[in-house]
Amino acid sequence: MKKITVSGLKYRYPLTEELALKGLSFEIEKGEFIGIIGQNLSGKSTLCQALMGLVPHFYKGGYGGSVWVDGLEVGKAEIHEIAQKVGLVFQNPFTQVSGSKMTVFEELAFGLENLGVAREDMAPRIEHAMELLGIGRFRDRNPFDLSGGQMQRMAIASVIAMEPEIIVLDEPTSQLDPQGAEDVFQAIEALSRRGMTVIMAEHKIEKIARYSDRVLLLHQGEMVAFDTPQQVFSRDDLERYGVVPPVFAQVCKGMGIRNPATGLYPMTLDEACDQVVNWHE
Ligand SMILES: Nc1ncnc2c1ncn2[C@@H]1O[C@H](COP(=O)(O)OP(=O)(O)OP(=O)(O)O)[C@@H](O)[C@H]1O
Ligand SMILES: [Mg+2]
Repeated sequence: MKKITVSGLKYRYPLTEELALKGLSFEIEKGEFIGIIGQNLSGKSTLCQALMGLVPHFYKGGYGGSVWVDGLEVGKAEIHEIAQKVGLVFQNPFTQVSGSKMTVFEELAFGLENLGVAREDMAPRIEHAMELLGIGRFRDRNPFDLSGGQMQRMAIASVIAMEPEIIVLDEPTSQLDPQGAEDVFQAIEALSRRGMTVIMAEHKIEKIARYSDRVLLLHQGEMVAFDTPQQVFSRDDLERYGVVPPVFAQVCKGMGIRNPATGLYPMTLDEACDQVVNWHE
């Protein structure tokens, strides 16, 4: 059984004319790392919210088609049932903070309380999530005294502590410096290798090319492509969708360096090095 099946998903926000999602259909396997890309307003956040049920349970409006998550139909299930399976890291980390907890540790515990996790099971899960995101030293800090980057790490940690089978992250590294973003990608990749299904909306194309198993390209609410990074970023029409391919793909394309077996361009430093070695032989 597929982990996620989306069929003909359409959605229009209340009081708007145009569909924000125009009939999306795709499937995701357990443990895949999926990157969602597309220019501003292409529908990435709306899709993230539809995968965890905020669309249509919180955001009303017009909804059609279906989203199945691990045997649960998101449009019909209760939001607390969906929350047992899917965790969402919001685009804006301020949105994620409860506002009622005095420390980072308590903030992480709050999410687990809502899931009904027993008190004695909370501490190890919280410690592990804080360690993964490198925020252990802020455990006693008030969440609102954190920097944007620290708050973003806390928001991610609070969802990871919930140990969802599926994690949806909406631009989770937007406030982080380059090393911080790299750390987060590595932490998420490690979770994906252990079987967590990861769906991440991101503008950081180089990282998406390196970490994603498949890339879903959205444009004006439509799915333009859903394929391997090599397939998606080797397309000739990316400019039309406001997507700039990874720099290694651009250089290799300019120099005519491609994988002889597939005809596709290298996306990462490692792939480019492999092809350059072959190219000179
Ligand atoms: N709360 C809302 N009410 C009405 N329309 C909305 C709302 N949120 C988003 N939209 C509209 O839905 C469409 C998709 O927006 P969405 O936020 O999903 O795009 P995005 O790809 O996440 O953009 P960004 O890269 O800027 O985060 C846009 O036309 C946007 O104006
Ligand atoms: Mg968005």
